[in-house]
Amino acid sequence: MIDLMENKLMKQKWKPGNMIYPLPAVMVSCGSREKANIITIAWTGTICTNPPMTYISIRPSRYSYELIKASGYFTINLTTKKLVKATDYCGVKSGKDINKFEEMKLTALWDEQTQCPMIQESPVNVVCKVREIKALGSHHMFIADIVTVYVEDEFIDQKGKFHLNQTELIAYSHGVYLTLGEELGTFGYSVKSKKINTSSKQSKGTQKNPDTYKATNTKEHKNDKKNVSYKKNKRFKKTSKR
Ligand SMILES: Cc1cc2nc3c(=O)[nH]c(=O)nc-3n(C[C@H](O)[C@H](O)[C@H](O)COP(=O)(O)O)c2cc1C
Repeated sequence: MIDLMENKLMKQKWKPGNMIYPLPAVMVSCGSREKANIITIAWTGTICTNPPMTYISIRPSRYSYELIKASGYFTINLTTKKLVKATDYCGVKSGKDINKFEEMKLTALWDEQTQCPMIQESPVNVVCKVREIKALGSHHMFIADIVTVYVEDEFIDQKGKFHLNQTELIAYSHGVYLTLGEELGTFGYSVKSKKINTSSKQSKGTQKNPDTYKATNTKEHKNDKKNVSYKKNKRFKKTSKR
C-alpha cells in the first residue's frame, strides 16, 4: 500500500463532485403531440439488464420535468456526430419558449403504444415508462422500465446484426462532445484464447457479453425479421460475409 501523504504522490485531493466521464449526452424526447419537447441529458445510464431499466436525472426547474412527470413516459434518443449541434442546442434552450423539433429540423415519430415522441434522425430510440421518481437533491432521478427499442434499419446487415458503432455515436466528457476513437478490443478479449478455433463453437476461455442487446432476441423481432429484407440495405449490400 502506498501512503499518499507520506510519499507526496503527484495527485491533488478534490472535494466530492461529479468526475465520472465519458458519458453519453442523449436527447430525451417527451410530452404530448401538442407539447412535444427535447431535453439533453448526461446524467443517464443502464441500471438493470433484466428487467431492462434505465434512469435519467433532471432538475425540477426544467420544463421537461413536468412533461415527463405528467405523461409518465420519455424516450432516450442516442446522439451522433450529425446530431451534435442539436444535442447542444436542446441542452441550452428551453422548450418553454420554443419548439426544439422545429428549430433543429428534427422529425418527431410517435410510439404507438405509449404515444411518446421519438427523434427519427437518431439511430436508436429507447422508449421508457417511469417507475419511480427519487428526489435526491439538485436532481430528481426518474427510474424507468424500457418499454421498446427502435433501431435504424440502415445499420442492420443481411444477417440481422445491428452495427451500432457505425452510427458515429458521440460521447460527452468534462464539458466536451467527442466522437468515439479506435476500437481497442471486444468484451472478454483479455482472456480470449490465442488459438484460432476453426469450429463454429465458441473457443474455450472466450467470454460473451451477457448484457449486449441483441436485436434478434425477442419473438416479436423474429417475426418482424421475416418481413424485412436485409439484402435491400444499401450500406451492407457489397459485403457478403459479416
Ligand atoms: C451536454 C448537456 C448535458 C445536460 N445534462 C443534464 C442532465 O443530466 N440533467 C438536467 O436536468 N439537465 C441537463 N442539461 C441541461 C438541460 O438540457 C437544459 O437546461 C435544457 O435547456 C432544459 O430544457 P427544457 O427547459 O426544455 O426542459 C444538460 C445540458 C447539456 C448541454
